[in-house]
Amino acid sequence: MSYNIAIDGPAGAGKSTIAKIVAKEKGFIYVDTGAMYRAIAYHLLQNHVDVEDVERICEEAQKADVSIRYIDGEQVVLLNGENVNAYLRQEEVGNMASASSVHAKVREKMTELQRKLAAEQDVVMDGRDIGTVVLPNADLKIFLTASVEERAKRRFDELKAKGENPDLSAIEKDIAERDHRDMTREVAPLKQAEDAVLVDTTSMTIQEVADKIMSYIK
Ligand code: DC
Repeated sequence: MSYNIAIDGPAGAGKSTIAKIVAKEKGFIYVDTGAMYRAIAYHLLQNHVDVEDVERICEEAQKADVSIRYIDGEQVVLLNGENVNAYLRQEEVGNMASASSVHAKVREKMTELQRKLAAEQDVVMDGRDIGTVVLPNADLKIFLTASVEERAKRRFDELKAKGENPDLSAIEKDIAERDHRDMTREVAPLKQAEDAVLVDTTSMTIQEVADKIMSYIK
C-alpha cells in the first residue's frame, strides 16, 4: 500500500513549496494537481473557448490529453504529448483554471488520474479537494492556510523578484475572488476535511511549516 499525504488550501498558502520539501525529505513523489487543471485551462485558452461556454469547456476538456511524467524529480505536465510546464504559471491560466474546474466533467477526469498516481506510489499531493474527494483515505491530511494579505504579499514578492512591477491591491482582489470561487463551487469545493490538521502559515517560516508537517508523518 502506498503512503499518501494530502495538502489542501487556498491559493498562495505555500502548498507547493511545502509539498516539494516534504516529498524530497521522504523520497515521495510530489503531485501538483493545480498544474493539471492549469493544463486543461491552457488548452481551453489555446482553443479560444469562452469562459462562459460550459458545453465547449466540457467537450474540450474531454479531448485534452493530460498526463504526468517525472524528469529529474520535477513534475512535467504533458498536454497532448507536449510539455506545457512553461505556460502554466501565468495569471490568465490560473484564473481560467479556477473558472473551468468548477465543472464536474472536468473534475472527474482529473480525479481519476490523481487517484491512479496515488495508488501506484507514495505521494504528497496538493490541491483543493485532495483530502475531501480525491484521497479520502489519505494517511495524513493537512489544510494549509494564511491570511489573504499575507498570501498577496508573498505573490507580490515573487513577481517583484522576477523583475515584474506588480500591483498589491490587484493581487489581493484576485486572491479573494479565487478563494470565493474555489470555496463556493458546487462540486468538490475547497474546504478542510474533518480529519485534516489545520496549519496557519501566516507568521511561520517555510522550514517551520515543513518541520511541523514532518512531525505528523508516521
Ligand atoms: O493551485 P493552483 O493555483 O495551481 O490551482 C489553480 C486552480 O485549479 C485553482 O484556482 C482551482 C483549481 N484546482 C482545483 O479545483 N482542484 C485542485 N485539486 C487543484 C486546483
